This record gives sequence, structure tokens and C-alpha cells, in this order.
Amino acid sequence: MSKPLAIIAIDLPAGLLEDLRRSVTPLLTGPDPAAVHAALPRAHGILCSALFPLPAEVLAQAPNLRVIANFGVGYNNVDLEAATARGIAVCTTPGVLSGAVADLTIGLILAIARRLFDNARYAREGWARGLPPPPLGWDPAGKTLGIIGFGRIGRAVALRAQALGMEVCFTDRFEDAGEGFERCRSLPLDALLETADVVSLHVNLDDSSRGLIGARELALMKPTAWLINTSRGAVVDQAALREALAAGTIAGAALDVLDPEPPAPDEPLLAMENVIVLPHIGSATVETRAAMREMAVRNLVAVLTGRQPAACVNPEVLGR
Ligand code: DGY
Repeated sequence: MSKPLAIIAIDLPAGLLEDLRRSVTPLLTGPDPAAVHAALPRAHGILCSALFPLPAEVLAQAPNLRVIANFGVGYNNVDLEAATARGIAVCTTPGVLSGAVADLTIGLILAIARRLFDNARYAREGWARGLPPPPLGWDPAGKTLGIIGFGRIGRAVALRAQALGMEVCFTDRFEDAGEGFERCRSLPLDALLETADVVSLHVNLDDSSRGLIGARELALMKPTAWLINTSRGAVVDQAALREALAAGTIAGAALDVLDPEPPAPDEPLLAMENVIVLPHIGSATVETRAAMREMAVRNLVAVLTGRQPAACVNPEVLGR
């Protein structure tokens, strides 16, 4: 029997590619959008970045597709309803990247609190010239972190923040976060925004979270508070954020994600003094990316060989 055909739209190390070839024939390897689109009509599976757009009209070009194995935990790149209607399993890589994203979030809290970027710039440009240093930083201990979205990543952030002595509150669909999280206080969104010194976003992007943080929500935050976004850019209304930052409605923002990515060269957030922008590096460590690649390959192969994938967001299509 011939092996299923798959588009591998990310670079894989030779060993992993060899493993994959035992059960699947790659139609192409590497992130070349034109080649991916050309191969879609023949493909039974695709392994791609969680940022590679697969809207309904693209899925319509892929009549044989049975699985989208995203390299990442997000799946807002896929039209989930269209994929489900077509019987395409949408798989992701949750869990293996929670620590890396949480570490980055904590890194941003410390960078904000201790003015690391300001001080690094001052050391380069002002220290030797005897210019006055940046103002003092602040201690995270005793401050309140408000976590919006208390899933795997939100919880990993909470544990790390508690180790820094921060109070943690969260907003999610549930109020009881369960064992190990008794000291994390559940609050409705508005109360969390009013309370937190740092607000950190850890939700999936979907219709319920698009534009979740807009002008009204930013106005509820303390003028001294910071917003951290390591989830998806479109969770925040970026125009409203620019206005709030310019007006001093909030103190600042640290953004690992923007909408769109990459941003336009003249995106004002890139030039604002009270904004830290990073180029979507939440999972960007050697170990985490390796674990994500392996999980994505396992998901792809599992569906294409009739087995249960480790993580599928529309399991109702499996076994159809
Ligand atoms: C994810 O895992 O979704 C990361 O943000 C990469 O896209």
C-alpha cells in the first residue's frame, strides 16, 4: 500500500525526517508558501507553523487533506469550522512550550520592573558620559499579576510569579483553578484589570478573544500598570493600545506578538519609549522547538496511520 503524502512546511532535522519517512512520503520540506499551495491538492497531511494561514478557501483546494499538524499551540491560522466540516483533524503541540512562554513572560516582568532595556541603553550611551541614570525600578514582590487565560501557560506563569513573591489573580471560564493554585484569586475581567499591576494575556485567539483588550479595558487598568502579551496580537485592539500608551492611560506594554506579523516598518509601537516589542519568540529555545517538532510529527503520523494523535482540537473528526 502506498504511503500517505504530506507537506512538511517547516525545516526538520535529518533524523526526524527519516523517522517520518517510514510512514509518510513528504511532498516537500521547508517553509515555501508557493510550493505548499501547489502541493495542497495532492496532500493527505500538512505539518506547518501555527502562523501559516489555512482559511476555508485554501482548505477547499485540498480535497484529500486529513490532518493539519500545527507546529505550535495556537490554531487561529486554521478555519476550524471549515476544517471540521471537511473532516480534517487539527492538531497542536500544547504543554511542551508552556515553560518557555512562561519564562519569557517572567523575563518581561523583570525587564519592566528593573528597567533592564533602559539601563542597558544607558550603559551603552550615557554611563561613560556621566549622564543621569534611568529612574529606579520596582520589586515584583508584593505586586499583583493579573493573568487572563488560566490554561497551561497561564498556570506556569502563575507558579513562577508566586516564586517572585507576586500576588496572582486570574480570569477564566472557571473560578476554581484546582489543586496547587489555591492562592490564585479568581476575578471577573473588569475587577482583574482594575486590580493588577501587571496584566498578562494567555488566551487562544478565537471569536471570543479577538479585541478582548480594547479602549474600555485599557481605561480600567491602573495608570501605573503594564500589559504583557505573549499570546496573539489580535487579542489586543492595537489602535486602542497605541492611544492608551500615548495618553499615559497605562504605564507601558511588553509585546511578543503583534497584529500583523511582521509589523509594518512604520508601526508606531516599535518606536514608543514605554513599549518593549519582541519578534514572537515565546517558544524560541532549542529544547522547546525540538519538542514541538517531535510532537507535531507524531500528531501528523498518528492521524495518517489511523492512530490517536496526542493533541487534536476537533477530535470529533477522528475515526469518521
Ligand atoms: C504557538 O505555539 O502558537 C506559538 O505562538 C507559535 O506560533
